[in-house]
Amino acid sequence: MIDVSDGVFRLTTRTTSLWFRVTAHGHLEEVHYGVRLPLDQDPQALAIKRTAEIGSSIAYDEADPFYCLDNIPLEWSGTGCGDYRRSPIEVVGADGIRATDFRYRGHRLTPGAAESETLPGARAGQSEASKTAGTDGTRETSAPDRRGDATAPEDETADEAVQTLVVELVDEAARLELALEYIVFPATDVIARRTRLTNRGEQPVSIRRLDSMMMDLPDRAFRLLTLHGGWIKETHLEDRPLSYGLAVNSSTTGASSNRNNPGFLLAEGRADETRGRVFGFNLVYSGNHAGTVERSPHDLVRVTLGVNPEGFDWRLAPGETFETPQAVMTFAADGLGGVSRHFHDFVNRHIVRGDWRGRARPVVYNNWEATFFDFTAGKLLKLARQAKQLGAELFVMDDGWFGRRDSDRAGLGDYSVNRRKFPDGLPRFADQIRGLGLDFGIWMEPEMVNQDSDLYRAHPDWAITTPGRQARLGRHQLVLDLTRPEVRDHIVDQVSHIIDTTGASYVKWDFNRNLTDLYSPGLAGRPGPGLDDPGPAASRQGEFAHRYILGLYDLLRRIFGPRPQVLLESCASGGNRFDLGMLCFSPQIWSSDDTDPVERLAIQGGLSLLYPPSAMGAHVSEAPHQQTLRDTPLTTRFNVAAFGCLGYELDLKLLSRVERAEIREQIAFYKAHRMTLQYGRHHRTDRDTGAKANKVVWTMVAQDGSEAVTGLFQTLTQASEGFDRLPVDGLDPQTRYHIATRPQSLFVHRFGGLVKHILPVTLNPDGRIMTTVDHQYRLTDCVEEYDAYGAALADGIALANQFMGSNYNEHTRLLGDFGSSLYLTTRVGEKN
Ligand code: GLA
Repeated sequence: MIDVSDGVFRLTTRTTSLWFRVTAHGHLEEVHYGVRLPLDQDPQALAIKRTAEIGSSIAYDEADPFYCLDNIPLEWSGTGCGDYRRSPIEVVGADGIRATDFRYRGHRLTPGAAESETLPGARAGQSEASKTAGTDGTRETSAPDRRGDATAPEDETADEAVQTLVVELVDEAARLELALEYIVFPATDVIARRTRLTNRGEQPVSIRRLDSMMMDLPDRAFRLLTLHGGWIKETHLEDRPLSYGLAVNSSTTGASSNRNNPGFLLAEGRADETRGRVFGFNLVYSGNHAGTVERSPHDLVRVTLGVNPEGFDWRLAPGETFETPQAVMTFAADGLGGVSRHFHDFVNRHIVRGDWRGRARPVVYNNWEATFFDFTAGKLLKLARQAKQLGAELFVMDDGWFGRRDSDRAGLGDYSVNRRKFPDGLPRFADQIRGLGLDFGIWMEPEMVNQDSDLYRAHPDWAITTPGRQARLGRHQLVLDLTRPEVRDHIVDQVSHIIDTTGASYVKWDFNRNLTDLYSPGLAGRPGPGLDDPGPAASRQGEFAHRYILGLYDLLRRIFGPRPQVLLESCASGGNRFDLGMLCFSPQIWSSDDTDPVERLAIQGGLSLLYPPSAMGAHVSEAPHQQTLRDTPLTTRFNVAAFGCLGYELDLKLLSRVERAEIREQIAFYKAHRMTLQYGRHHRTDRDTGAKANKVVWTMVAQDGSEAVTGLFQTLTQASEGFDRLPVDGLDPQTRYHIATRPQSLFVHRFGGLVKHILPVTLNPDGRIMTTVDHQYRLTDCVEEYDAYGAALADGIALANQFMGSNYNEHTRLLGDFGSSLYLTTRVGEKN
């Protein structure tokens, strides 16, 4: 809800309020962002006071000496008028002048969410999804269990209440108009923001920086939480106190990056998972981004977020408008978990669109780690047959099916099937997969080209290079110039043809190197949309990185817009482009090439700060792991992957009989509870809120509260470990539940040399007899069951003892290093 009265803008969501007002000098002053306030709260009680002159500050107007921009919490600022904090805008006029000072001119309120023509953004109504997919989340070929479907996120009844506010600011001297857009999504507690700058002068101007949002918050001893990493170690949480000066969270790689995810959180001093005020910010953008947080000398904390200004230079001709990507923000008073749940609901309701919005994600089998490039149709069909027997629903054929793609040195760009591997062609192979009762999915990397490819030989100039310089290769490949329309047209034709001729219902769209050598001949004088007045040849090269991303969105819109039935899984060497921009097209994203479950606790745990499990690709793979050589139990590999979109990517023919049985049971459990696991309300329980230091506890509570799945993960075991409790967060305290361990296999090899003590004969634990026994025989890990009220579950129920080196019986929990269990909580009674 948006109320504008007495010069105060009051934006209200279910639990939050954002208030700002116009000052006597026409600037927008931040009054409050945080807990929801009654509309009749006096803003003066909250506004920062101006009752003294602060030393060494600059008066905006000599007649009003206490009015100094540097000391006012603002919603927007310019440059050159005495605000020395980071400016969200830098524009250079034809005369070289850089000063800007934007002041209020008017505002507009409209129902619904304003949309952009070039950039993806959050949407208000999502009725198109329910029209095409139905409300039960099912598909014809692999209908998930109905009971699970009942827990899909409810459709937002408050959708009508989504509103857009546009505040118009103007700088008369620079002849620039600036529109600040706010879209209020009341039910999910998110406010989306972007800016639009219009040149009303007679000369072009150069935009060096234009952020999507800016705001100033009073400091609360903030900590800054960011997600940083690299290949196979994405989205590790970095939590640090916010000190004076500028903190920057940015990317320059051409992608949103695995180095620094665009999203970040500001948490008040002692906030933890369940307590304290926390602010969350993210950007609907897949390219170079920069988020900054600056604590001023008087403890105002400025937050900006937008396209990274590094290397950015956009020439704005008279009459033209530049629009930024959308930034989104939320606030919660119930800790980090509160912010995460706001963002999860927001992504599921307003970012993901098309047939797959709110719909159960299929269980995938992907051949990559089993075969790499070394496969034929016959080999894949064998794997597919076994995958089907285990319960998989979608077979994904990964890299290596096209051109001369037998390694990563050749073939990218040539998407015609390799006849040696597929003598009967691809459509026939796809039919054979479907004949097994599986959906067919396919891998492509459409933005890239190998020099050893027919495409490169035909169009060497389509690859990004800088004239006079040697092009740099990454994974032996170059990037195609998506700023050029003819390159995009070619990719659209190529990808559409593959989807249409194979009937693929899933595409894994990969992006395996970062951008370098930024230059396009297409930006050197060629007229085109938005380029009517191109200017001198070199003048538009600073637009390249942003135009590349606009080109990418154009591709995705043209290919997948008319094919909403296709489930797109974006991938960028794992999570090198895990962002809200990609999620507007790709309902799920491959989180990381690292499938080691212990690493995934950090990766998926970090991602869960900002993104829901329905968006995270998570697979069970071999152990020892191909990325870490760590040996982990099959049960833990599943238990972690279950908190995402489940898949398997190990060599199925190497599985023992008992491992197959375990996987069959895993998939059956996942299917029965996947709407809870993918779309439930996520709770992380950390050591501040009840878990031990060597434990990770995650709970997903069904949207209707009928069930919950909790994962208890042990990292390193401790000898004679103290008593364990299992806290289950997010349930109704007054309601009765039944909680039970998911029965899981305990393989004989877990006992190591101890087996010889219980056998009448001495056997080598690594010998042939014991290996045969291990492949044929399994125990069931300790199963516990209790009835408990939600209040008791939140407190933590006491669990059976872990193995302590003394005796073992069926009541012993055998976790060891990297052990884990899942617990299913089911509602049995009404509220007391
Ligand atoms: C990337 C992806 C992997 C796989 C390979 C294929 O590394 O992240 O999952 O698809 O490419 O080359």
